[in-house]
Amino acid sequence: MKIFEPFNLKGLSLTSKIAMAPLTRRRCTREHVPVAIMQDYYAQRASAGLIIAEGTSPSPNGVGYANMPGLYNQEQVVEWKKVTDRVHRAAGKIFLQIMHTGRVGHLNNLPIGAQVIGPSAIGQNGEVATYDLGKQLYSVPKELTLQEVEDTIQEYVTCAILAMESGFDGIEIHGAHGYLPNQFLNLSSNQRKDSYGGSRENRMRFLLEVVKCCCDAIGSSKVALRISPFSYADVNEDESELTALYTDLMAPLNALNLSYLHLSHMGEPLPVKFNLWGKIRDLYSGNLMLCGDFSKESAEDALQNKNADLIAFGRDFISNPDLVERLKNNWPLQERDRTYWYTIGEKGLTDYSTYE
Ligand SMILES: Cc1cc2nc3c(=O)[nH]c(=O)nc-3n(C[C@H](O)[C@H](O)[C@H](O)COP(=O)(O)O)c2cc1C
Repeated sequence: MKIFEPFNLKGLSLTSKIAMAPLTRRRCTREHVPVAIMQDYYAQRASAGLIIAEGTSPSPNGVGYANMPGLYNQEQVVEWKKVTDRVHRAAGKIFLQIMHTGRVGHLNNLPIGAQVIGPSAIGQNGEVATYDLGKQLYSVPKELTLQEVEDTIQEYVTCAILAMESGFDGIEIHGAHGYLPNQFLNLSSNQRKDSYGGSRENRMRFLLEVVKCCCDAIGSSKVALRISPFSYADVNEDESELTALYTDLMAPLNALNLSYLHLSHMGEPLPVKFNLWGKIRDLYSGNLMLCGDFSKESAEDALQNKNADLIAFGRDFISNPDLVERLKNNWPLQERDRTYWYTIGEKGLTDYSTYE
């Protein structure tokens, strides 16, 4: 089957076309430093063709969720290096997802001196768990000045460099699911009047500058991008505007010659998604990874029909560390259980068994 064939990802040899999707598990210290059990967790899953490690903030301003990882200081480099060493010793390949939460967070989860920021001072609807205050409404973000926009882009670049220092094989910029670059794309979160707001070209600028600057810093073959056209972050957006936005994005992305473009879908399927994903496949000239409730059969179909080059699995990798072997041998999968997705400790992280 195609999914089990090796794949040459711009010079990086993958043992299969199956990726482990980035999965926030919130096991880190309060200071957003990875802990030892994360080494076991990722090493257990090293038979994935590619692991994309969980969303990790490039900045103290971007750790909006309690206990999510960061990569902006040397202590974090040291601990992430232990993770990548373990994965490489198990013959795996691992990218880091760089995820700046922007307005999706609460001040109480941020280190002292950091601030919740966004393209505009428009709060995210809903509540978020905090360290000390229980559930709270999302903090209203501070609108970034032009200088702060530049500084934030530089934080991504520094993080990309630190990711190389930490032994990652590459990085995936999180441009999906309503986090910072996505907040710049969407009119509902970006009401800026300067060169980062207004027209589609302006709203795409932050995302494209982040990706381009990271490519310049570590090489485009090590940089990937995740986007989520028509995922839940886009519910307040105009459908034709969004279609035009994601269509317009493809020409500048083609020019960047990335490792791969990752399309993610979460939640209820929207019919328009499938039309747009097909359109993106036609317009995008590089490697395309798809993610969102795939089974072995639907993944194989997508590859056979040339709708994708790689398929990522999320929830099934949480409960099946040996997912590739299970799929290969048609062994049953252990159930998806959300109880321990975001809890502290080993339970639900490293205690899922391989198939006996
Ligand atoms: C517990 C959990 C944590 C997640 N964390 C992230 C994340 O850090 N970054 C990201 O881009 N997507 C994240 N996602 C979305 C997954 O990467 C994936 O897109 C989603 O689970 C759909 O794939 P699946 O149907 O194979 O599970 C998360 C999903 C879950 C269930």
